[in-house]
Amino acid sequence: MPHVIFTAPFFMDTTLRFIRSVGELQGVELGLITQEPRHKLPADIDHLIHGYVQLDDAMNADQIAQGVRLLQARLGPVHRLLGTLEHIQVQLGEVRDALGITGMSAEVAKNFRDKARMKDLLRNAGLPCARHRAVEQPDDAWQFAREVGFPVVLKPKEGVGAAITFRVDNDDDLRAALDVVRPAPQRQAIIEEFIVGEEHSFEVVSIRSEPVWHSLTRYSPTPLDAMRNPWIQWCVILPRDISGHEWDDVRKAGFAAVKALGIETGLTHMEWFRRRDGSVAISEIAARPPGAQIMTLNGHAHRFDLYRAWAKLMVYEVFDQPERQFAAGAAFLRGQGQGRVARVTGLDKAHKAIGHLVVEAKLPQVGQPKSSSYEGEGYAVLCHPDTAVVTHALRDLVSTVHVELEQ
Ligand SMILES: Nc1ncnc2c1ncn2[C@@H]1O[C@H](COP(=O)(O)OP(=O)(O)O)[C@@H](O)[C@H]1O
Ligand SMILES: [Mg+2]
Repeated sequence: MPHVIFTAPFFMDTTLRFIRSVGELQGVELGLITQEPRHKLPADIDHLIHGYVQLDDAMNADQIAQGVRLLQARLGPVHRLLGTLEHIQVQLGEVRDALGITGMSAEVAKNFRDKARMKDLLRNAGLPCARHRAVEQPDDAWQFAREVGFPVVLKPKEGVGAAITFRVDNDDDLRAALDVVRPAPQRQAIIEEFIVGEEHSFEVVSIRSEPVWHSLTRYSPTPLDAMRNPWIQWCVILPRDISGHEWDDVRKAGFAAVKALGIETGLTHMEWFRRRDGSVAISEIAARPPGAQIMTLNGHAHRFDLYRAWAKLMVYEVFDQPERQFAAGAAFLRGQGQGRVARVTGLDKAHKAIGHLVVEAKLPQVGQPKSSSYEGEGYAVLCHPDTAVVTHALRDLVSTVHVELEQ
């Protein structure tokens, strides 16, 4: 029986879906390593867990290794060590390396996690991406800006969720951004040429270094625009048909990119731009499943469970090809103002107009605190065979439904 360990420092909704999918896999004995107390685990997942280790810091490689050893003593040799949180990918690699567990090594995980190292590898492989430089001190950033010209982007080398990411248009902006990012040799940042264009994702399933499945979405607008404009309710669109030649270039670049970074088996999430001149620029790639409801969108578009398929992929290295029957899209409902959710308006009107397309929703609840992310306080997922119908309905939805916050 494969003994699989899942490391989940926190129990977020999506993390629980991944844990459940691994636990429900035929024949798996699941161990869980976390910071959360066991009583926080929903009962229908709890019964799937064969061993539970609670740590002070489940992001620390030494502690995770300790937890793995404990579970190993109880349940036997470990077949896979899994985790979906971006922040722990390198640590999981270190533990696999130290304990001889199959899966992504720390060196490969760093190729994905360190944005400067990633871009060096992509450029060396001849793949298109923004010019960049690692920033150890403010001077590095000033020099790059002088060479390349504004606008540029300054961000942490290991950022997540577009936090602390700045578009810099002039000297004043750069000074202000450096004050917040505060680059140092032990806290490096990255500066990049600013790419203008439409931003997308590109998901790939690889098995033993071969891409076997892919999917893509379009962001509306870019996450950085959503961060900079708090009134924007962000949307993600999964087109129904991506078989056409207009995607050939990104398919080629996307497959080559995951190979260049060295993924063997897994589901990766790339972000990329279609520049105004039509060319592709790869932005970043994560060696983990996508967030932003992209798992859910794929589930609805293919009428299958991508969480379960991911679990099977990671444990047994097989992936059953789904057939896409629908386009899907997510609208992220985002509060205006400060404080907590006071009311949500426009729901009736939206329900009449596009309610028949909604396949899943988590509406913001009165009293809910403001989210720190551009993904806001809730979302709705729409589905229809026609991509244009989904795209228009998302626009309708975000212009009709408003989330009001109050102190
Ligand atoms: N070079 C760039 N040009 C234009 N926009 C960028 C660039 N780099 C980042 N961004 C914007 O900032 C967002 C966050 O940056 P990203 O590198 O994806 O970091 P994170 O790990 O926080 O998602 C991107 O989704 C994109 O909208
Ligand atoms: Mg990103």
